[in-house]
Amino acid sequence: MDLKWWQDTVIYQVYPRSFKDGNDDGMGDLPGVTERMPYLAALGVNAIWLSPFYTSPQNDAGYDVADYRDIDPRFGTLADFDHMLKTAHDNDIRIIVDVVPNHTSSDHAWFQAALQASPGSRERERYHFHDVDPSDPDTPPNNWQSIFGGRAWSKTDDGKQWYLHLFDSSQPDLNWDNPEVKAEFESILRFWLDRGVDGFRIDVAHGMVKAPGLPDTGGDGSIEMIGTTQAPFFDQDGVHDIYRSWRPIIDEYDGDRIFVAEAWTDSAERRALYLRPDELHQAFNFDLVLADFQAEAFQTAVDTEIANNSGVGAPCTWVLSNHDVQRHVTRYGDGEVGLARAHAATAFLLGLPGVVYVYQGEELGLNEVLDLPADVRQDPTFHRTGGEQIGRDGCRVPLPWENSGPSLGFGDASGWLPQPEGWGEKSVAAQEDDPNSTLNFYRRAIALRHETRAERSGTVSWLPHSKSDVLAFDNGALVSVTNFGSEAVSIADLMEGREIALSTQAVENGNLPGNAAVWLK
Ligand code: BGC
Repeated sequence: MDLKWWQDTVIYQVYPRSFKDGNDDGMGDLPGVTERMPYLAALGVNAIWLSPFYTSPQNDAGYDVADYRDIDPRFGTLADFDHMLKTAHDNDIRIIVDVVPNHTSSDHAWFQAALQASPGSRERERYHFHDVDPSDPDTPPNNWQSIFGGRAWSKTDDGKQWYLHLFDSSQPDLNWDNPEVKAEFESILRFWLDRGVDGFRIDVAHGMVKAPGLPDTGGDGSIEMIGTTQAPFFDQDGVHDIYRSWRPIIDEYDGDRIFVAEAWTDSAERRALYLRPDELHQAFNFDLVLADFQAEAFQTAVDTEIANNSGVGAPCTWVLSNHDVQRHVTRYGDGEVGLARAHAATAFLLGLPGVVYVYQGEELGLNEVLDLPADVRQDPTFHRTGGEQIGRDGCRVPLPWENSGPSLGFGDASGWLPQPEGWGEKSVAAQEDDPNSTLNFYRRAIALRHETRAERSGTVSWLPHSKSDVLAFDNGALVSVTNFGSEAVSIADLMEGREIALSTQAVENGNLPGNAAVWLK
């Protein structure tokens, strides 16, 4: 296959606050990322997507940006950023940064100015401010609920206006009908492109444009972030005009830089619209985040993604975990079974064409930490729902690098969230020399994926198998076989004339164990 780098690649998500603490304040940072660049190079990833490190009060772990052109002191400085970027490039690793255009932090200079200004002012026009109806002061302009719980409207201190926030009340939504907002984000993109970044992950890429008149949504107005429900504030057609204006900007720069959309849509067809040739390069495909570990679900997800994305000439993407969802080891049942299934699912993904996203820590087989005490939880979802929704802290626990120490080598201080018992055994140090560790399995599988890049066909040909729990496909270079059931199955027919190139569990006498995958060559 003759492809651009971003059409067939492995991208690793760094969640900076939990990756590596370079200055021992309990919070990961950019110097920590720089320090561990050799680790990422050895893992074989081609690019890193960094969650936000911008100046922020951290009410939503940095997805509440107060200054889009600077680094939060907790994460370092612009000089630290430049050093990290250079180190990444020296290691042949590209850097994709997060851009958060749906909302700012309430600490952003624009929102602060808006609060100082009067209703109807230019400052308030940058956000969605609406008058409070004096005859009905407790009823907001519509029934929209915050994704994090509670209503999506809060009042200004003087009680005269409401402002919209689809997320926390400290994340006011920007008004994308305002040309000043558009111009500002074009300038922010250029700021980071000029600094040398290789692309952007667009946060809530389906959210900036709201339906005219801000009509009520159906039901009680609540909506899940991780879901596929249509709403008057998500996936409006007008959002595509924004991306058509962004694409020429990134195309002006050399080096094949890319946009990747976080776009939750109600169908794969709607998702593919973001990938038309004059819009974005990639969109996360969350179908496998929502799917059970089940053959039919995986096959449907693959067929749907390939059909829709090839229709617009865009690469497929494959995601099992990220900083917003429960880690897949836990989704698959935790313990030995959860881990075995996680390995099998990863082998399945790495045999597919397109782009595989790896969320930090999945290469260590980390589980979701379910029992964090309430007083350490930081996710606004937990607090805004009074603990009813547990939130996302459990997938954000700092990485274990060593067997021991106050935060298992994350830093020399305790981390911002406590690590559970037993994570020392999952640390990088503990796995480094064990050929059967999750870490070494990821390294082997990623290396093999790269080695077969030129040979792979760019699609999958399903091979028939008598057991419905088994999926087998040929990718042009390898035959990938995954057993989603719990009983061993014979794959002797598929092994005929082929050798095992990779397996997640030992294949003996032509039997593939349950919850296991193998690559044949
Ligand atoms: C990010 C979340 C964040 C939300 C609001 C998302 O989709 O991935 O972590 O809380 O946007 O910015």
